[in-house]
Amino acid sequence: MKYNLSEITDLIRDRRSVSPERFSTRKVHREQIELVLTNATWAPSHGLTQPWRFRVFLQEGMEQLAVHIPRIYKEATSPEAFRQAKFEKLEARFRHISAAVIVCLERDPSGKIAEIEEVEAVACAVQNMYLTCTAYGMAGFWSSPGFIYSRQMHDWLGLGPADKCLGIFYIGYPEGEWPRSHRKPLEYVTQWITG
Ligand SMILES: Cc1cc2nc3c(=O)[nH]c(=O)nc-3n(C[C@H](O)[C@H](O)[C@H](O)COP(=O)(O)O)c2cc1C
Repeated sequence: MKYNLSEITDLIRDRRSVSPERFSTRKVHREQIELVLTNATWAPSHGLTQPWRFRVFLQEGMEQLAVHIPRIYKEATSPEAFRQAKFEKLEARFRHISAAVIVCLERDPSGKIAEIEEVEAVACAVQNMYLTCTAYGMAGFWSSPGFIYSRQMHDWLGLGPADKCLGIFYIGYPEGEWPRSHRKPLEYVTQWITG
């Protein structure tokens, strides 16, 4: 055995999404995010296009999110669907947490790789982010509310026409007990063909 399978299995199963409202006030440091994102870049990508792009918001940078994310939510939401409580929740969220990464996809200019495969590669990168967070005792939270796909978000990020925002990845230490989860047993999701 090259690695400790029991430890890596524990790490994978312990990985948790925790909503930022449940983060403690303990700060996340730049060096931690550097490792989280460097490990993200070791994800596979078809043709090694490495389509992941990251915008890291830390310290005073969080104020930019506190201002622009609620604004984008408001502008990208129809008046009937808009909820003032959600607007205020978003404002408060970015003043409560210490780190967030906007995860984007930059299409390979050759266009040889299908978009779905580029999205898959970014998802693999996000899993590496999650796992590295877990090793630090931190939780992640991949959040993909509808407005992240809006023109307003795209413009604010200054993305190219073929590029996409795929989510906001929140990082923090969960308050209280480490949350548990569950999964369907393997037999529900697997067919074995053995002959
Ligand atoms: C692509 C993707 C987008 C997600 N977007 C959201 C979201 O917008 N809101 C949310 O509550 N959770 C979101 N999640 C997190 C899932 O709710 C979470 O992974 C799931 O409940 C399982 O919990 P666990 O990650 O702790 O195992 C997203 C997860 C993925 C993979």
